[in-house]
Amino acid sequence: MEKISLLYKEEKTAFTQSTYDEQLLNYLAEKVGTPYYLTDEQKIGKNYSKLKQAYSIYRGPSLIAYSVKANFNPFILNYLSKLDSYFDVTSPEELYFLLKSGGKPENVIYTSVTEMEEEYRNVMSKGIRKIVVSSMRGLYNAIEAGKMLNITPEISIRVNPEVQVRAEVRSAMKVSKFGVPLNGTNPESAYKMVKILLDEPNVKFGGFHFHLGSQLEDPNAYLQALEKIKQLILKVKKEREFKINFLDIGGGTPVNYGVKVPSPDDIVKTVIDKINELVDVNGDFFALVVESGRYVVAESTVMVSKIVNSKYYGNKKIIYLDAGYHYLLDIALLQQVYPLEVVGGNETNEEKPIVAGRLCDSMDVFQVGSESRLDGAETGKLVVIKNVGAYSVVFNMPFHSQVKPAIVYRTSDGKYYLARKRQELESLYEEEGGSLLKEKLEVV
Ligand SMILES: Cc1ncc(COP(=O)(O)O)c(C=O)c1O
Repeated sequence: MEKISLLYKEEKTAFTQSTYDEQLLNYLAEKVGTPYYLTDEQKIGKNYSKLKQAYSIYRGPSLIAYSVKANFNPFILNYLSKLDSYFDVTSPEELYFLLKSGGKPENVIYTSVTEMEEEYRNVMSKGIRKIVVSSMRGLYNAIEAGKMLNITPEISIRVNPEVQVRAEVRSAMKVSKFGVPLNGTNPESAYKMVKILLDEPNVKFGGFHFHLGSQLEDPNAYLQALEKIKQLILKVKKEREFKINFLDIGGGTPVNYGVKVPSPDDIVKTVIDKINELVDVNGDFFALVVESGRYVVAESTVMVSKIVNSKYYGNKKIIYLDAGYHYLLDIALLQQVYPLEVVGGNETNEEKPIVAGRLCDSMDVFQVGSESRLDGAETGKLVVIKNVGAYSVVFNMPFHSQVKPAIVYRTSDGKYYLARKRQELESLYEEEGGSLLKEKLEVV
């Protein structure tokens, strides 16, 4: 870990507050180059605790599983491991990151999209036991992998509850790549898969998993999904002696990007009675798992970018940042509105400018919401792009031969670390084939 020497002895203004410490941000800009990400561990801890606290009103065990896909930075994984968080892991590569960063295999819920037998063998051999399958073939692959390693995995079934969801990213539409239908008449259904699992001596049956989408705006969607799970439990119970030990309600807890959204407490208040109904129907408590990526990390991180140029097009001012959607993909993918703030800008009566990214692509323009404060947006000033901790670093790409920016990480005790070095242009060149120019690939 590379520690950045502290600029000041005394505690500085936290950079997640609305007014930023210009001197500190400029110092870091000099040190690591712009744009750079700046992550505040304290904020991760706060949001993780808020989520945990909210679900603690459930009388059975409740677990928060951080979705590694949102941000796999080793500092973040290490910190959440120390908090004894659970983890939602989707690939052997994410698992590699997690285990190397201090994560424990027993805290992993492994929900793959590819579900290959070889993949299950790989992750089970590293100690993973909680597996969520999403297809009949996936189920057989997981069972087979367990047999080959002579271990007993706990397998749960990812269902697609097919409910209407108001969210930025929806995952529960009628025909979905994720999960299986609940219905018994479908060739691959949760109903059929449960019975296969119950008849299989070499596995433990866990329960059910669903994920409705990301940035869920209306928690009522959970109610419909939970009702469907309840009906499935009742249906199987008519035929077999069975109970679930695990219910994973996926991710989706939303973040305030400038529009009011339900808090974890609001969501729990909406769903808790329904969850208790499921306990009654089940005849026992189950572990309630809540996955969360966006809520845990989004607000922890800002991108600090520089205004590198500006112009007037007629009387409309356009400013150009040295950031763009190659570092914040959701600008293009979802037209995400990130709150923006010019650091140390003087108040003016000027209309807010258009904020353009540095890419040669017309999609590379930042939405400017009402929360954005762009007074004094002049060339050379820094602009902070807020709430970018989720689904940004993980999508970094080298469009226009741009290198991956540095990540500066502020620990809970106020120390600064370089959590990722700014990539060298030479190393990008080599990675992209520059070092292979004279290497012939022998093809027989
Ligand atoms: C299965 C699953 N769980 C959890 C999440 C995390 O969702 P969020 O970051 O919105 O909490 C995702 C996101 O895509 C997901 O696919």
